[in-house]
Amino acid sequence: MGNLPYVVFIFEDYMKVFEKKIGEIVDENYIYARALHYLGLEFYNYEDRKLIDLCEERGIDRKRVIKSFYQFDSSTRIPLDEIKTYPLELTLEFLRYSHNSYIKNYLPYVANLINQLDGRSTLIRDLKMVFPLFVEDFINHIYKEEDELFDYVEFLIDVHQKNPDKNPSRIWKYSSLSLEQLRALHVDEDEMAGLRELIDEIPVDNLLTDVIVKEIQAFNREILFHSEIENEILFPKAIELECLFYQSMESLCRLN
Ligand SMILES: [Fe+2]
Ligand SMILES: [Fe+2]
Repeated sequence: MGNLPYVVFIFEDYMKVFEKKIGEIVDENYIYARALHYLGLEFYNYEDRKLIDLCEERGIDRKRVIKSFYQFDSSTRIPLDEIKTYPLELTLEFLRYSHNSYIKNYLPYVANLINQLDGRSTLIRDLKMVFPLFVEDFINHIYKEEDELFDYVEFLIDVHQKNPDKNPSRIWKYSSLSLEQLRALHVDEDEMAGLRELIDEIPVDNLLTDVIVKEIQAFNREILFHSEIENEILFPKAIELECLFYQSMESLCRLN
């Protein structure tokens, strides 16, 4: 009951949003552009229209709008210390889920926004060229990571948990991989460097550019956090499992 006045306040605050123009809403918080996108409304097409009119025209239920705004508003990050307490298989699932959401949601969303930009200035033309290159590098990183690293870590987990489907002798499949080496390479990787530099140069003189710049900056923070989970949690725990695996193999050899 103690939280009720706060909830009522939040609800009233959200209700006020319907009287505002789309441009004002997105200008207040760029995240709402994403919430509108998932409701089927591209903000750049309706900057001067009131949300209430669009909802009526499109038959969009107000409760759905509030729910969507609230969800995007309150999507907070799980603290690193909490992820450290997860079992390794859960960390792996969390990372896979993030990869999937980058590829399916984030990257197409921003690519579409960039497509809407007028490419008359050199910097915008550069952005239209650099962003797809970044996407290609980034997706390659994800696929390679899942096919090699995640697959190997999953094997180590299965053997450690004595999963009968995983025969330890299948280690030959990963004999060319070195977790220490992969970690060293991973720590130095930074696919976003070029894009980050370019974004710092782009003049923000309209709402669309403002949303794109803020989205790319937010994604930069997101993937720094994602890499931190991989570098500081996934790799150390996997290296520990790898050590245990080779120790158990050694004692088996001695027994034979
Ligand atoms: Fe990753
Ligand atoms: Fe990674």
